[in-house]
Amino acid sequence: MTKRVAIIGAGPSGLAQLRAFQSAAQKGAEIPEVVCFEKQSDWGGLWNYTWRTGVDENGEPVHCSMYRYLWTNGPKEGLEFADYSFEEHFGKQIASYPPRAVMVDYIEGRVNKAGVRDWIRFNSVIRFVEYDRDADDFTVTVHDMAKDHVYKERFDHVIVASGHFSSPNVPEYPGFADFHGRIVHAHDFRDAREFEGQDVLLLGSSYSAEDIGSQCWKYGAKTVTTSYRSAPMGFKWPDNWEEKPALLKVEDKTAYFADGTSKKIDAIILCTGYKHYFPFLPDDLRLKTKNRLATADLYKGVVYVHNPKLFYLGMQDQWFTFNMFDAQAWYVRDIILGRIEVPADKQVLMADVAEREAREEASDDVKYAIKYQGAYVKELIADTDYPSFDVDGACEAFFEWKHHKADDIMAFRNHSYKSVITGTMAEPHHTPWKDALDDSMEAYLRA
Ligand SMILES: Cc1cc2nc3c(=O)[nH]c(=O)nc-3n(C[C@H](O)[C@H](O)[C@H](O)COP(=O)(O)OP(=O)(O)OC[C@H]3O[C@@H](n4cnc5c(N)ncnc54)[C@H](O)[C@@H]3O)c2cc1C
Ligand SMILES: NC(=O)c1ccc[n+]([C@@H]2O[C@H](COP(=O)([O-])OP(=O)(O)OC[C@H]3O[C@@H](n4cnc5c(N)ncnc54)[C@H](OP(=O)(O)O)[C@@H]3O)[C@@H](O)[C@H]2O)c1
Repeated sequence: MTKRVAIIGAGPSGLAQLRAFQSAAQKGAEIPEVVCFEKQSDWGGLWNYTWRTGVDENGEPVHCSMYRYLWTNGPKEGLEFADYSFEEHFGKQIASYPPRAVMVDYIEGRVNKAGVRDWIRFNSVIRFVEYDRDADDFTVTVHDMAKDHVYKERFDHVIVASGHFSSPNVPEYPGFADFHGRIVHAHDFRDAREFEGQDVLLLGSSYSAEDIGSQCWKYGAKTVTTSYRSAPMGFKWPDNWEEKPALLKVEDKTAYFADGTSKKIDAIILCTGYKHYFPFLPDDLRLKTKNRLATADLYKGVVYVHNPKLFYLGMQDQWFTFNMFDAQAWYVRDIILGRIEVPADKQVLMADVAEREAREEASDDVKYAIKYQGAYVKELIADTDYPSFDVDGACEAFFEWKHHKADDIMAFRNHSYKSVITGTMAEPHHTPWKDALDDSMEAYLRA
């Protein structure tokens, strides 16, 4: 087989794609030449932590949106690789909400075992991708930062796995330009200790606001205020945390809210989400979608309807993560290997997208959304040899997680769940989350 496949990004999605091809080769299939381009000097995507913010050592936008002391915000039992369990990796079952360093170790374990590191060109930024209609292939322009050399190569397929939680959505409110304090987006937030003793305002009512606020609370902020645009998070917050409606303006160090109240604040953290941003793609190849479960223009959530030789991984809003990226990667692999056929009629591809959108829009219920994405994972894995696993069991773990958060938002990480891969129940962590200030792997794995 002489086909060439380019993968953009070596985060969990890109690594899933490498593992998918390697697993086919291991079973004797002839696979194309696969080249993964990663702009960072190491793999892991968002999980590859850096202290840097703004631009990296090469002057490129820093990709990392993660921060010190980050623990997974959902149970690990919902994301476990079906072909590589936590028990296989750590030699024992571990507690259910691992900190980032533990997760990186797990992510790396599977691809180290697969031996695919040589398939990745690190320090390699994709600058541009063009489709040549006559040759029916793509020309990819790469900047090799180590050699400071820009070159082009041709590929039969391009798989975009560059993530979508890295380019911040940064709104402006009246008074920001004159505010006497720090204003930072979640993407550039690194260490909650910076806000010790301060009155912190967070804008947004989703996962970043909840978790960064919790970090600030845990590491000694004086007060935490979260401001919602649409709906409050509605958890039972600690005494020094309050939820306010929309921010109207700031003046000096006072924030004014839509309910007529105001509050003195020292710092503002914009937990206002991210943009799907692909500066390396021209109009005819660039995905334009909201952060939702049924992404626009992707047949089966992965095939770009306007050019079915181009694929996107992990572009959905995410309940399921690693195992969904796997399901997608195995599916894309099998299309490229000719095992799965994509309908030739574009109307059929678009009808698939429309059906997914209508089904997503049929309900606002959280359980419905979790089941919806679980059904999507099941749909894809049914067509490939990705090991089937108890997706409904993973949904159940998510439902329990939601209850635990409603019971006590500062204690939900003390709970544990049963692995849907090995059937083993996780032990509760040795220290309650709020008291566990050391997030190292050594501390977490200590018996
Ligand atoms: C703060 C935060 C916390 C999260 N916590 C969790 C959690 O607890 N549990 C969970 O399951 N999920 C979590 N997520 C969700 C996260 O999206 C996934 O876990 C996962 O990282 C997505 O993988 P990905 O490979 O699709 O994208 P990414 O992890 O974003 O990786 C994309 C890769 O593409 C590379 N890249 C980008 N552009 C280029 C280019 N032009 N050229 C070359 N390479 C490029 C990047 O350097 C990066 O390595 C979190 C997300 C955020 C923002
Ligand atoms: N492991 C962890 O602990 C952890 C921590 C943080 C994040 N994450 C992950 O990171 C991903 C992104 O989460 P996210 O919370 O950053 O983004 P998100 O889920 O897209 O939420 C964005 C939030 O910003 C609000 N918003 C957008 N524009 C605004 C504006 N102009 N003014 C005020 N509010 C505005 C939105 O409000 P509306 O509802 O009104 O649109 C929404 O509440 C998720 O997958 C999450 O799981 C994980």
